Amino acid sequence: MISLPPRACVSVVPRTLAHRWPLVSEVLFAACELGVFDLLSEAPEPLGSAAVAVRLGTSSHGTQLLLDTCVSLKLLRVETSRGKALYQNTELSSTYLVRASPKYQGNMLLYLARTTYLCWGHLAQAVRDGKNQYQEAFGVPSNELFTAIYRSEGERVQFMRGLQEVWSVSGRAVLEAFDLSPFRLICDVGGCSGALAKECTALYPGCRVTVFDTPDVVRAAKEHFSFLEDDRIRFWEGDFFEDPLPEAELYVLARVLHDWSDARCAHLLARIRQACKPGGAVLVIESLLDADGRGPLTTQLYSLNMLVQTEGRERTPAQYLALLGPAGFRDVRYRRTGGLYDAILGRTGLPAGCS
Ligand SMILES: C[S@@+](CC[C@H](N)C(=O)[O-])C[C@H]1O[C@@H](n2cnc3c(N)ncnc32)[C@H](O)[C@@H]1O
Repeated sequence: MISLPPRACVSVVPRTLAHRWPLVSEVLFAACELGVFDLLSEAPEPLGSAAVAVRLGTSSHGTQLLLDTCVSLKLLRVETSRGKALYQNTELSSTYLVRASPKYQGNMLLYLARTTYLCWGHLAQAVRDGKNQYQEAFGVPSNELFTAIYRSEGERVQFMRGLQEVWSVSGRAVLEAFDLSPFRLICDVGGCSGALAKECTALYPGCRVTVFDTPDVVRAAKEHFSFLEDDRIRFWEGDFFEDPLPEAELYVLARVLHDWSDARCAHLLARIRQACKPGGAVLVIESLLDADGRGPLTTQLYSLNMLVQTEGRERTPAQYLALLGPAGFRDVRYRRTGGLYDAILGRTGLPAGCS
């Protein structure tokens, strides 16, 4: 989500790329965890590093190093006044790294720092094994994938907080990729906290969205998130591999298929096809790989992330077509949004009697 400005990236390639990149991420994680960007946003004027250290309760030496490195990463700006360096946020950090910003992405960064990165520490082993690394990273078995992902209430809520953030930035683009206004009754399958549902009702005011997810996630959504305030959104609990799915004209699957093997995806899509009303459709929202699987780099990294953290992978348009076609969806089309996530729409065919 957060990427360095292109010039900063270009300047580190290729000389010290391998040495710098993991460290750059840690700088970003630490500054978020310590609340550097929140503090600077709340301060009425730019602060010196000593003042930042006092207010954060951190060492003056460490704080000075962290702030200056953030300046080099263009996460902070520094000005010198009467010989004293004063720090403030840049537009990038104000937009994405300040908790009060509507586009805040810090919860995902903290999830990456505390969970994802620990799995990535076993990437070589994941490549050897061809499977996720929960046992190695956290000592928990992953034969039930989401039991491992949600191994504590804290993990569940952090994962949900992290996941919801991207839709404040990318939600509109994926929901606008196709005209969804004809669909009044929508089910967001694996819809988590309801964040994408909220974007959907904002964009298509005539629709109602049922968010379908596991009982623990629905409970946590009701306890920790505020989307229930929208009376066009309701929650429905169950297991999407086994339980009846709510009736809908459009089923949304956002970042769900990438968690699972082809066989599990085929099973889920067949269930959705069965539940779908005539004239209905499925909207798959994922990050699409290029046809040859060799790009875009971000999607390739996401796919490796699926290796270390799930049972799935990112896929090419042809691979999604190969899943949607046999499940009974026709006229499958995809649109790349130019952002992090793309959209694939498959239709069930017209209602009986229509031509
Ligand atoms: C990677 S998350 C994506 C969440 C959301 N669609 C998004 O894009 O932000 C996968 C979602 O599927 C849900 N899920 C996983 N297994 C499920 C199951 N068997 N039945 C219902 N929901 C499930 C998870 O709880 C989680 O909310």
